Amino acid sequence: MSLEFLKEYEVIINENIEKNIDKIRRLDQSQSSIIDGMEYALLAGGKRIRPFLCILGALIGGLEKEQVSNFASGIEFIHTYSLVHDDLPGMDDDNLRRGKTTCHIKYGVGEAILIGDALLTHGISLLLGHIDGVSLENQVKAVKIMLDSIGLLGMIGGQAADLDQEKSTIDKLETLEYIHTHKTGKLLEGALLSGATLANSSDKIKNDLLAYAKSFGLAYQITDDILDITSSLEELGKPIGSDLKNEKLTYLKIFGISKAKEMAQMEVEKCKNNISNYGKYGNQLIKLADYLIERRK
Ligand code: IPE
Ligand code: IPE
Ligand code: MG
Ligand code: MG
Ligand code: MG
Repeated sequence: MSLEFLKEYEVIINENIEKNIDKIRRLDQSQSSIIDGMEYALLAGGKRIRPFLCILGALIGGLEKEQVSNFASGIEFIHTYSLVHDDLPGMDDDNLRRGKTTCHIKYGVGEAILIGDALLTHGISLLLGHIDGVSLENQVKAVKIMLDSIGLLGMIGGQAADLDQEKSTIDKLETLEYIHTHKTGKLLEGALLSGATLANSSDKIKNDLLAYAKSFGLAYQITDDILDITSSLEELGKPIGSDLKNEKLTYLKIFGISKAKEMAQMEVEKCKNNISNYGKYGNQLIKLADYLIERRK
């Protein structure tokens, strides 16, 4: 299964990212290599899963996809920042990302830190751009959801715990769950929920989508751990065995591969059950959940 069924959203996101890069380039007087690095990281061929979630959350609530294109791209800027920093020598120390040399190797470590910072801050700026037909109140709520999902109580907390346990010899399921739900789950949740919030969705819809996203996030990172061992460099676009090299706490390490696969499949079934009544766009979310289990990259 490929992501071909979400192609129309991918086109919108990629065009929007290129438009925004051009815009920054026109405004940037210093001709800095930071903008080259931002473009390099953004256009290296990510799957765009988080923007898809945001767009689908908005579509289920009745908005048009074009209304949230800047917001959804902003989420991809933020996700890309997290990858640039995740690969740094002080973190996972990886040399390939999305099939290309990582930013710190191509541009230098200091520059890669700044490229990440610039992706993050510009991403937030995109979240705050004017959106026709969306109340300021709902936009502020959606931005807050996003910021909470990437901060200390979200992704940063997960990344910090992930760093902390690297050298630990005690494998604890509780820590593992915390790491996965925070370093990866929170941003996926934030993406879907912020789309629904921009669309002024009811509490019932938001609760169903949140339940979907929670299971989606856990299954997404369990699958990422599995692919770290079972995929190939060519398909995955990042080094195989990075988690082993860094002695990471993963579902594979605690449960072994077949149990980890089973657990991911179980989360996917749970996640699909929450959104069986949401029509065409709900079905696209269901297909996206099936894709996440079958993906090779
Ligand atoms: C990689 O995310 C990092 C995780 C949080 C698992 P993706 O697998 O979505 O990476 P891209 O964006 O497609 O490169
Ligand atoms: C990364 O988890 C999570 C974030 C970037 C926030 P991983 O370290 O497992 O992601 P990959 O495998 O390098 O993409
Ligand atoms: Mg990492
Ligand atoms: Mg990593
Ligand atoms: Mg990984």
